[in-house]
Amino acid sequence: MTKSVTVKTLLKMKQAGQKIAMLTAYDHPTAVLLDAAGVHILLVGDSLGMVVQGQTTTIPVALEDIIYHTKMVSRGAHHSLIVADLPFLTYQISADQAMQNAAQLLREGGAQAVKLEGGQEVAATVQRIVQAGIPVMAHLGLTPQSVHTLGGFSVQGRTREAAERMLEDALALQQAGAFALVLEMVPAELAELITSRLSIPTIGIGAGPFCDGQVLVFHDMVGYTSGYIPKHNKRYANVAQVIQEAASVYIQEVTNGGFPGEDQTARLRPEEFDELTPLLRGEGQ
Ligand code: KIV
Repeated sequence: MTKSVTVKTLLKMKQAGQKIAMLTAYDHPTAVLLDAAGVHILLVGDSLGMVVQGQTTTIPVALEDIIYHTKMVSRGAHHSLIVADLPFLTYQISADQAMQNAAQLLREGGAQAVKLEGGQEVAATVQRIVQAGIPVMAHLGLTPQSVHTLGGFSVQGRTREAAERMLEDALALQQAGAFALVLEMVPAELAELITSRLSIPTIGIGAGPFCDGQVLVFHDMVGYTSGYIPKHNKRYANVAQVIQEAASVYIQEVTNGGFPGEDQTARLRPEEFDELTPLLRGEGQ
C-alpha cells in the first residue's frame, strides 16, 4: 500500500467489491508495523480500556486516554486511515459537546475520523460533526458503551423487531453522513442485508463474512492478552507465549550470569584503559 487511505478510498473499495481490513492500534510501534503491513484502517478504539488498561468495560475510558494513544498511532501511521473512538459520555450530552470533542481528537490526537456508538438517537450528532468537516464512522449491534443496558456482551438483532430497528438505524446514520458503519456481534444474515442496503461500507466484528470489511482487536488477534477472548476472534499469532518464553530465558540468564555477555558490554579503549589503570588498581586515591 503506497497511497494514503481516505474515506473516498473506502467508498471506492466497496463499489469495486474489495474488502477492507481494519485493526485496532493503541501505540507507535504497533501503528508502524500495521501501517507497513497495509492495514487500511487503524482504530484507536476505546477497547484499549479492556485490553491495555485492564478494565472490565470500556466505560471508564476518558477522552484524554484516546487523545494520548491517538498521538502515538498518528506518529507511526502514514498510509492507514486513523479513526479514533469518542468514549462514553463525550458525545451524548449535546451535538456541540460531540463536535468539540471530535475536533480535539483530530487537532490534538492527529486522527482523521472519529467513531461513535448508537443509532437514530445519535443521527443529529453525526450530522453536526460531519458538517464541521470531520468524517464519522458509526457503530451498531453490540455497542459496548451500553453494555449495562444491553445486559452483557451478546449478539444483537436476533428478533424481527430488533433487526428492523437496526436496519432503520443504519439507514439513518448513512443519511446523517456517516462514511462507514461498524456492525458488532450481529447475525451474518442481518449484516448481509444491511450491507446490501447501504452505499457506505460496513465493517464487521462477529458479524459474519458478508460485510464490506472486517475489524479485530489487535491484542486478541495476535494473542497478546490473558483475559477473555470473544468467540468471533481469530488468533493469528501467540504473542503471549513468545513474551513468556523470552522473559523466562532472561530470568535464567540474569540469575546464572549468562546476561549480559560480551556483545552487550562496553569496554574501555586501550588508551582509556591506560589512563584509568591507576584508578582501577586503587592507586593514587
Ligand atoms: O473499541 C473498539 O476496539 C471497537 C471495535 C471492536 C470495533 O469499537
